[in-house]
Amino acid sequence: MLESFLFNIAESVLGKLASPILEEISLAWNVNDDLEKLKSTLSTVKAVLLDAEEQQEKNHELTIWLSKLKDACYDAEDIVDEFECEALLRQSTDSKVRRFFSRSNNPLVFRFKIGNRMKEIRERLDEISAQKGKFHLTERLVDERVVYRRREMTHSFVQASDVIGRESDRDKIIEYLLHHGELENLSVVPIVGIGGLGKTTLAKMVYNDERVDRNFQLKMWVCVSEDFDVTRLAKEITSSATGRSYGDLTMDQLQARLRRSLGGRKFLLVLDDVWNENLVRWVELRGLLEGCAMGSKIIVTTRSSKVASIMGIELAYNLLGLPHKDCLSLFLKWAFNAGQEKQYPNLVDIGNEIVRKCGGVPLAVRTLGSLLYASTDERHWLSIRDNEIWKLKQEENDILPVLKLSYDQIPSYLKRCFAYCSLFPKNYVLYSFELVQFWMAHGLLDSPGEDQESEDHGMQYVKELWSRSFFQDVEDHGFFFTCKMHDLVHDLAISVAQSECSTVTFLTPTVNEKIRHFSFLGTNLPGQEVPKFLHKLDRVRTIFFPVRGMGPSSETFIDACISRFKHLRVLNLSDSCFEALPNSIGTLKHLRYLDLYRNRKIRKLPNSICKLQNLQTLRLEECEKLEEIPRDIKNMSNLSLKHLSALETLVIGDCAKLNLMEMEYNEDFDLSLTSLVIGELPQLVTLPHSLQGCASTLQYIYIDDCPNFTALPDWTRNLTSLKRLEIIRCPELFSLPEEMHCLTALRELKIGLCPELRERCDPETGEDWPKIGHIPEIFLNGIKVKSTTN
Ligand SMILES: Nc1ncnc2c1ncn2[C@@H]1O[C@H](COP(=O)(O)OP(=O)(O)O)[C@@H](O)[C@H]1O
Ligand SMILES: [Mg+2]
Repeated sequence: MLESFLFNIAESVLGKLASPILEEISLAWNVNDDLEKLKSTLSTVKAVLLDAEEQQEKNHELTIWLSKLKDACYDAEDIVDEFECEALLRQSTDSKVRRFFSRSNNPLVFRFKIGNRMKEIRERLDEISAQKGKFHLTERLVDERVVYRRREMTHSFVQASDVIGRESDRDKIIEYLLHHGELENLSVVPIVGIGGLGKTTLAKMVYNDERVDRNFQLKMWVCVSEDFDVTRLAKEITSSATGRSYGDLTMDQLQARLRRSLGGRKFLLVLDDVWNENLVRWVELRGLLEGCAMGSKIIVTTRSSKVASIMGIELAYNLLGLPHKDCLSLFLKWAFNAGQEKQYPNLVDIGNEIVRKCGGVPLAVRTLGSLLYASTDERHWLSIRDNEIWKLKQEENDILPVLKLSYDQIPSYLKRCFAYCSLFPKNYVLYSFELVQFWMAHGLLDSPGEDQESEDHGMQYVKELWSRSFFQDVEDHGFFFTCKMHDLVHDLAISVAQSECSTVTFLTPTVNEKIRHFSFLGTNLPGQEVPKFLHKLDRVRTIFFPVRGMGPSSETFIDACISRFKHLRVLNLSDSCFEALPNSIGTLKHLRYLDLYRNRKIRKLPNSICKLQNLQTLRLEECEKLEEIPRDIKNMSNLSLKHLSALETLVIGDCAKLNLMEMEYNEDFDLSLTSLVIGELPQLVTLPHSLQGCASTLQYIYIDDCPNFTALPDWTRNLTSLKRLEIIRCPELFSLPEEMHCLTALRELKIGLCPELRERCDPETGEDWPKIGHIPEIFLNGIKVKSTTN
């Protein structure tokens, strides 16, 4: 198992070691000597890391060395974090006089312990560093393979409609769908071809064709992937048919529901990316689909012709490579801004040869095109054309080496961001804010430029990964993006992240002890409170439940995680169904991201949440029963208030029972939120007074679907940092306050589906226009009515 992103880790630990606060404390605590040595050792080691990462393929001992080094770096990072936590804590205990630096004010024991750990880690790193001599590594300070493209990307998102060619394939399949098997109950059309060839794309073209619309009464699309679990598929097919989601139905109920929705209609079902070679399961699934009209069809996309034959079809559609001229257009589209290729005939010639080597596989073509985007250095193009990968596995039609080549050339700061995406399941819809908050929690975003929020900065990363074709199917939803990873790209992420990230279930027997990030694909059933493998681990930083409807159900499990993993940074318990979050949550002082999305049982949060001094993101969406945010926030002494000061993003939505208005406090929250996202809170009338404390730090406010929201708060004028304001579906909001014109930082205002308000905001003529006319960008119901940027 090769080690990766060592260079990036070393760099970020070095960054932390250089923080002024750390230097100050280490002086006060008399550990500055160790700190300085640690820094210098790490810098010398870092110099050979790029070379080491490359050489390890030929030298197993080197991998072991890198793995030890990585552990040491992470441990060093944890110690540094602990220093900072302690410093913050002391600062807030006595914020007027920062006496904590004076030695007398520090518990000796803590200083002694942490001093020892610092010394220990310093010695460990020295030892590791001393061994590097035997590997004869070359020093290198920048990754020459990487083309940095910090310039603004001018690509607009390439849309699904941008498919090149494939018309005749589409027409042949449609012809079959419309004119064959009309007397059969259900026939299957498999599209077979290697990964990345364009099967899903072709199936989408067919699915969206209007001839198909006319011929079928019902269309359904389900992504199957490796897990051909009949119950899951039945759920997803039913969801796709009805547009609703089904949580806890039994198989019988599901079956009845499915029958009803098929209701004797003629349907088209796409089963995308099928791997199942088990006949029994296929027969079972097919059984569920009976009760449709004659002429119903299933399109299956698969890499294996064996799968196709299991499904009992005489005629499979074997997809061929995309013709060269189409491949070339695809390549040029990704490698250049439109039309720019004309200025570089030499590059186009080289590109032509590169495309030939891709064997008609669009994913390879697109990836290499986007890899070369923004590079006009002929040598770089030649190095791709003449790369060794072409000699490697061509005969197996394996394009993973092409993807790996592209991965090698992304800047180190993006490598880890990409690799951590392996924690999401295949075919998962990635939400940009989820990704960005997740990266942020792990300190993966380097410091944003001036006048840039870390979220914007994170979005830059998302766009960069997209522009390099690691993300696809990007959709712009206004305040966020969604995207997906191609299954092969996901495989790549798994392979580069395997020494750190792992997906597991409660039944997974063992995992590599070095794993630091987990995602659970499945919930715990009675009797499996704590999976065995957890007992062997202690350095875990991420626990994540990404699958809809499959969150943790037991408090015992959460409790066990909290007590074992003191270094947790991300605890994403989406879809959990416990009633109480253990009070011990307050001990996770490194926690940055806490997510209780869609917990439908929890009524209140424990008070100890106020102790999470590093918490940046708290997500409480669709917590139907949630009635209050910790009562203690009300009585918070200054001490505990300070503790939540890192909290930047608060998301509260669809919590029908929660009445923020009732929580009027004598004292304001002393938070410094930058983003506030509120949705589906029927009881909300205006923003609660208690949030007034963050008026001057809030940069982004989003209010969606609050039917009783009638006014912006009377402290609107204090929103001096506000840059973006979005108000959607608040029909009772009739007008904006006079103070709007004081908000000089406001760059963007979006108002949607608030009929009265919309009218009042009509450019020039609306009554409220004078209050908002100064804002550079204004959108009403999605239409840009004012823009001063060009
Ligand atoms: N005809 C085409 N024109 C443009 N892009 C294509 C075409 N066919 C495939 N692609 C792109 O290539 C990638 C792989 O295609 P996909 O349909 O997902 O392959 P498969 O399902 O066979 O693995 C996707 O990013 C897709 O957008
Ligand atoms: Mg596919």
